[in-house]
Amino acid sequence: MQETELTGRERPLVPSEIISTQTDTRGVITYINKAFTQVTGFSREDAVGRPHNLIRHPDVPRGLYYLLWDAIKSGEQFFAVTKNRCKNGDHYWTLGMFQPNFAGDEITGFRSTRKGLRDEALKAEFDDLYRAVRRVELEKPRPRQVEAGHKALKKQLKKHGYRDYESFARRALAL
Ligand SMILES: Cc1cc2nc3c(=O)[nH]c(=O)nc-3n(C[C@H](O)[C@H](O)[C@H](O)COP(=O)(O)O)c2cc1C
Repeated sequence: MQETELTGRERPLVPSEIISTQTDTRGVITYINKAFTQVTGFSREDAVGRPHNLIRHPDVPRGLYYLLWDAIKSGEQFFAVTKNRCKNGDHYWTLGMFQPNFAGDEITGFRSTRKGLRDEALKAEFDDLYRAVRRVELEKPRPRQVEAGHKALKKQLKKHGYRDYESFARRALAL
């Protein structure tokens, strides 16, 4: 949803703002907590029933979300740093864990739990990585962006000496 233009202004998170969301198996939001509304400005009425790309920021590559979906659909957890948009066009940085919900062996949906990313140097590193990958994606038509982004992300990580995305993102956990 692009209700308003992006402002380029960051909405920093305080440590008590732990954002939690849940989706069905297709990524349609089924639950948001109070911190989600506090930070994003999207109410329950705005968000529940809408796809989670409601808060997608255009600087973040589709290749990253490919990795996320690949992991959680296989029943694995995924750790990621994301930049998202708020309803008023501001943005915010989080680091979070994405996991499947199970009923027995069956995946019934997904959930994410996140806190703010506060380290400025790390934010700049992720911003640079994501923008570099996104540039490659935008050279392609929409249907080919995911594959191009996935490849470009792997290439960029290798260039910086990382085996995979998770080993890059996990450094944020130490902060
Ligand atoms: C539990 C869960 C949380 C998600 N959180 C976000 C998020 O914070 N920001 C985001 O852009 N996409 C998030 N996604 C991924 C979106 O479903 C979507 O794949 C992504 O925004 C790419 O959008 P696109 O389909 O328009 O390319 C999440 C998915 C799940 C299952």
